[in-house]
Amino acid sequence: MARSPESTDSRAMGTVAMRWHGDSLELLDQRLLPAEEHWITVEGAAGVAQCIRDMVVRGAPAIGISAAYGVALAARHAGSGEWQAEIRQAMDELAESRPTAVNLFWALQRMGKVFEACTTPAEAVRHLADEAVKIHDEDLSANLTMAEHALSVMAPASPISVLTHCNTGALATGGYGTALGVIRHLHEKSLLGRVFADETRPWLQGSRLTAWELARDGIPVTLNADGAAASILAGGEVKWVVVGADRITANGDVANKIGTYSLAVLAKHHDVRFMVVAPSSTVDMSLESGGDIPIEEREGTEVREIRGIPLAPAGVDVHNPVFDVTPAKLIDAIVTEKGVVLNPDPVRMRGLFC
Ligand code: MRU
Repeated sequence: MARSPESTDSRAMGTVAMRWHGDSLELLDQRLLPAEEHWITVEGAAGVAQCIRDMVVRGAPAIGISAAYGVALAARHAGSGEWQAEIRQAMDELAESRPTAVNLFWALQRMGKVFEACTTPAEAVRHLADEAVKIHDEDLSANLTMAEHALSVMAPASPISVLTHCNTGALATGGYGTALGVIRHLHEKSLLGRVFADETRPWLQGSRLTAWELARDGIPVTLNADGAAASILAGGEVKWVVVGADRITANGDVANKIGTYSLAVLAKHHDVRFMVVAPSSTVDMSLESGGDIPIEEREGTEVREIRGIPLAPAGVDVHNPVFDVTPAKLIDAIVTEKGVVLNPDPVRMRGLFC
């Protein structure tokens, strides 16, 4: 079954990061937002891997879904002789694209299982495309379920204000969003006071993507520099900090965009609740704690300059880890489509995920 572009758009309700056409994948180039809405057509797994590496597409679930489509494209382009070796090589290449978001490896594992059961190239083309579409659809539906769960936890009697970090919306997922899905849902229920969006240095996912996505969908947003979060939380208006995740370990530690850990410390200090919203594909029960998560380091140029304009002396030494780990003890709730873990610890995590 090939996903039609119409069905992708209508079920995802507005903004989408990718469009699947059966023989090609279109990706919205997130590097150019908000200045330009430019779609890139990718026809092979190598192109998808490159787009993930270069952050044309980013956000843990969206990386996993794109990789799944990459495997489907590899099957379509494989020759009739060495088709199995070619698909395996494509999966290896996709697995090398980014290290931290476990959704990438989770999606490749699912695609690998389907691939192992295929006995002909034609079967591989059909079944791998079907599986990729399924992964995409399931992610969207997980987001809708998580938004419901999150509202039950927050249980706001009147509109509340929240603060978020990075971009966790339709651009980062199969549609609707994780933390941003919760914010969307609050808005739909007229329960959203104000959303403060951290700009999210250095790549500016907050200002370039979250502010764009929310404004596009008519959801009012207040953008703030990351350094303003402390005084915003001290002000008392914000009741919840709501963020996504790239990997959650067996003890409830959470890797997410750099700066999330400092927000969690601030939230604890100011008695503001801290919620992590992520599909179960982000949970990695094979790792005991956050210290085991590989944290991606990206080029110093991402900090030293912006679009070629210097922001620092040329060649200055830069430390640029793009994720950090928030310890479970700073988290009030981890919300997934399978349910909610309150005050996460290894026992409560096992209760839901084993
Ligand atoms: O480097 P990015 O933009 O891929 O990082 C994205 C994040 O850290 C998100 O918060 C996370 O992937 C959750 S997206 C639903």
